[in-house]
Amino acid sequence: MTNSEFYRDTWIEVDLDAISYNISQLSEQLHKDTVIMAVVKANAYGHGYLEVAETALESGAEWLAVAFLDEALFLRKHGFTAPILVLGATRPEDAGIAAQHGIRLTVFSAAWMKAARGFLDHETLNIHLKIDTGMGRLGFTEKNDLMEAERLASDYTQLQIEGAFTHFATADEPDRAYADQQHERFMEYLNVLNHEPKMIHASNSAGAFLRDNTAFNAVRFGVSMYGLVPSGDIRSEMPVRLNPALSLFTKIVQVKKLKQGGKVSYGATYTAGQDEWIATLPIGYADGWIRQMQGFEVIAGGQRAEIVGRVCMDQCMIRLPFEMKEGTTVILVGSEGEDRILLDDIAAHNGTIHYESACLLAARVPRIYRKNGIKNKVFNHLN
Ligand SMILES: Cc1ncc(COP(=O)(O)O)c(C=O)c1O
Repeated sequence: MTNSEFYRDTWIEVDLDAISYNISQLSEQLHKDTVIMAVVKANAYGHGYLEVAETALESGAEWLAVAFLDEALFLRKHGFTAPILVLGATRPEDAGIAAQHGIRLTVFSAAWMKAARGFLDHETLNIHLKIDTGMGRLGFTEKNDLMEAERLASDYTQLQIEGAFTHFATADEPDRAYADQQHERFMEYLNVLNHEPKMIHASNSAGAFLRDNTAFNAVRFGVSMYGLVPSGDIRSEMPVRLNPALSLFTKIVQVKKLKQGGKVSYGATYTAGQDEWIATLPIGYADGWIRQMQGFEVIAGGQRAEIVGRVCMDQCMIRLPFEMKEGTTVILVGSEGEDRILLDDIAAHNGTIHYESACLLAARVPRIYRKNGIKNKVFNHLN
């Protein structure tokens, strides 16, 4: 397979072997019966829903988790039969379609269950009760409401409580006090249920490794599966080494010599301090290569080169240390020799987190997938 399935010199490479390796490393840290849910929401954190879901399931994950019902239905449409949990809120009126496709929904109030009952005919909907133990986002906040939910499920057998879960707000911070409180609160909430649900889960990537007692019988791995350490604060505490799966490349499409005083890009905000070699790259903010990337250094022809002038929608410019040929490969995320650019570096430059930097990479950027060391598939959203 060649690059000819897209016609633009900007592409993402996803190393599926890295995802497989990360899952096997991560699972070695867990009790052998712990179920791994591969979190593939948001286009698998920018890596690609289908390819990541397939690799994760081949590599030891048994469940998939997404944010929205549409994402779960997309996976079903593409033949995924594994259990899928929707982590976010779903409208009660969509309970029927979820049930028809065997998709598990997150439930966060007894009122939701009352409303959903009218939308289920003969199908059974498996639900996971989400308990808000301190994230302040989605979940039961009152024990009475949780007890009422259990009562409703026993009256109305088409709603089956399969799981209960919570989410830590500070699992990726070295200070464990708040997460301990959340854990305690979770146990208190679980104790008010008459029947313990089959699946109890609390931990994301950080939670699963930094706390001994929070894996329960399932974990929800997102960021670590993609080879990213949940946060710099806990890098040294991670028990496994992870391999980042995503690289981002482009090629120089034009090289020009700018005379001293010459300007670059919108607003003419960059002025050449001397005669300079300026190269144009076919990537811009519409690809998720956002305007804040101005000033960031990429690797062009093995050399560091700064992004100068404003990043445009589809293009940006770099200052080269010397003249380079058009067609020279530029690494935006990835490594060459000893030099390496991580999504963490981009996030640090933009004052954000690598989760956001990965998710921002637009569907417009074609993806090349590598599996067993060879190019396996090219995905162009526009085909
Ligand atoms: C409820 C829930 N569980 C699990 C995850 C996965 O977290 P991580 O990517 O840190 O492993 C997320 C991600 O945002 C989430 O919202």
